Amino acid sequence: MRDLGKVEQLMTGRTRMIWVETPTNPLMQIIDVGAMAALAKRTGAKVVVDNTFCSPALQQPLSLGADAVVHSSTKYIGGHSDLIGGAVMTSDDTLAEQVKFIQFAGGAVNSPFECFLLLRSIKTLAIRMKQHSENALRFARALEDSGSFREVLYPGLESHPQHELAKKQMRAFSGMVSVYLDGGFDRVKRFLQNLKLFALAESLGGVESLVNHPEKMTHASVPPELREELGITGELVRFSVGIENVDDLIADVQQALRR
Ligand SMILES: Cc1ncc(COP(=O)(O)O)c(C=O)c1O
Repeated sequence: MRDLGKVEQLMTGRTRMIWVETPTNPLMQIIDVGAMAALAKRTGAKVVVDNTFCSPALQQPLSLGADAVVHSSTKYIGGHSDLIGGAVMTSDDTLAEQVKFIQFAGGAVNSPFECFLLLRSIKTLAIRMKQHSENALRFARALEDSGSFREVLYPGLESHPQHELAKKQMRAFSGMVSVYLDGGFDRVKRFLQNLKLFALAESLGGVESLVNHPEKMTHASVPPELREELGITGELVRFSVGIENVDDLIADVQQALRR
């Protein structure tokens, strides 16, 4: 979807929706929301953006032309790894009515306690996202400068192929950083086992740092050929950088590499 022409080629008269995730999980590719919205307008489709990696504090797809935005509020909006939730936002009244009806009919509502937690979380969303972004940028730079990784994927790095586009549509670059570590899965596994501050877990977006192995964990259900084609290999590692002291996080990676 980084190639607008390819998306256009795949659109048919039956295409009703363009589903965009940006940055993408776990490869941190950036999709141009404004360009997708312009394409959708020409063809009569709707654009829906999964904004989970940014939260509304860092990226506002409705103002870039999207018709609807979805969030796993389990992640940054909740921010403390203690609730499960989701949200749909839209400025389209008809769509809002339809979503509301499905929610009413399907019963997809959070418990009062989770709503209470979410309301408390939202009050600190802006400062958490600022700290996640500051930490992740310093973390990504340190990992890149260390020369220990084949590649560091973070939209805030000047080396990211879509850094300019990221700057255009994001206020800051959030806390998700992926890397390729040479040496095959065995070395990667030892690296993961030796991290002390990063807990090995699938989730993301909480104040405490997590690390995930996409091939074996979050993206295990993606067919192997497709994983290979996408670059979700045994050497890919995804960090969710929390709001701890970033020097401690960098030191943790360094000690795990030494071991
Ligand atoms: C980008 C993105 N969208 C959606 C989801 C789904 O979230 P949930 O498990 O809360 O439904 C996740 C994570 O699982 C995610 O990373």
